[in-house]
Amino acid sequence: MTDRQQNIIFTNLVGQALDTLIGEQPTKGGLFIISDENTTDNVVSPLLATAPLLKEHLTGEIVIPPGDIHKDIETLYNVWGSLSDEGATRNALIINIGGGMVTDLGGFAAATFKRGVRFINVPTTLLGAVDAAVGGKTGINIGNLKNEVGAFAPAEAVVISTVFFNTLDRRQLLSGFAEMVKHGFISGNETVNNLLNFDIDKIASDSFLDILADNVNVKRDIVFQDPTEKGLRKALNFGHTAGHAFETLSLERGTPVPHGYAVAWGMLTELALSHLCHQFPSDIIYRYASFLKENYGVPDISCDDYDRLISLMGHDKKNPIEGEINFTLLASPGKPMTDCIVPSEEIKGALDLTRDMLGI
Ligand code: GLY
Repeated sequence: MTDRQQNIIFTNLVGQALDTLIGEQPTKGGLFIISDENTTDNVVSPLLATAPLLKEHLTGEIVIPPGDIHKDIETLYNVWGSLSDEGATRNALIINIGGGMVTDLGGFAAATFKRGVRFINVPTTLLGAVDAAVGGKTGINIGNLKNEVGAFAPAEAVVISTVFFNTLDRRQLLSGFAEMVKHGFISGNETVNNLLNFDIDKIASDSFLDILADNVNVKRDIVFQDPTEKGLRKALNFGHTAGHAFETLSLERGTPVPHGYAVAWGMLTELALSHLCHQFPSDIIYRYASFLKENYGVPDISCDDYDRLISLMGHDKKNPIEGEINFTLLASPGKPMTDCIVPSEEIKGALDLTRDMLGI
């Protein structure tokens, strides 16, 4: 890791930003783009038309199959092979263009090829821009185990733009927005209130770029203080222990929900826990519950699911010790409390409150 803040460029002139970055970097070791089959035609081709320097110096385009199911060792092996076949050296520069799957896998390929080459991330989804592309976590899945193998390796630069969001559907946008709300809860009352009052239909607009920049910088600043998640960075796991359980339960039932929806519901359960354990103020929890109902709907759970949900919370990768469930909770907006061990009875109480507030 480096001792400087990650270089994040917020712009809707992505081609120009990439040409500027390439002009500043030697590309003698080869210049590569990694994208997936969904982004190669829709995003990469038009982008190349606006980035003459990138087009001129480009050594090769590596296109991988899309979806989390392909964030695996086979795809990674093929990327390493393509880099090798095309003569990439240790001085190569890789540009990952796509959602979180591409930036996670492409970042890990870069972190490991020739023991590490430079890379730039260009996230094309809101979820990727707010979370995956920033902060240096790279990796792949092993079977059902998400991000089981990986490395902390920060991108040289991340270029974030709203221009790609026009092609995303409402569910994808809301999925990313949930991670923004998470940053709001971690950073303070004003940010979270502004987000809960934001007109979601304006997510893909140009004016959203400034809001996005302030929000992503919440994560950038936390990562700068704790790049390898020894302490403060665990604040970014708020909503994720319960969210992981909602996500896995929906998968087990064959009705998967987007990651951000599960996190959005998980944050309500963890706010309820924060109230029970640390007196988090209830007015903002009710405000958040009505925002959830209006935009995300409600999870399909009853009291019969509590034992399974709690067991899934215990198997979350952030909970290595059997029988102990570890949460990041909040004393109030802007006051995260990491490593809170909570007994099952309290979690059941929080699940009851979640269902009461959502009317399920
Ligand atoms: N997604 C949380 C983190 O990057 O730490």
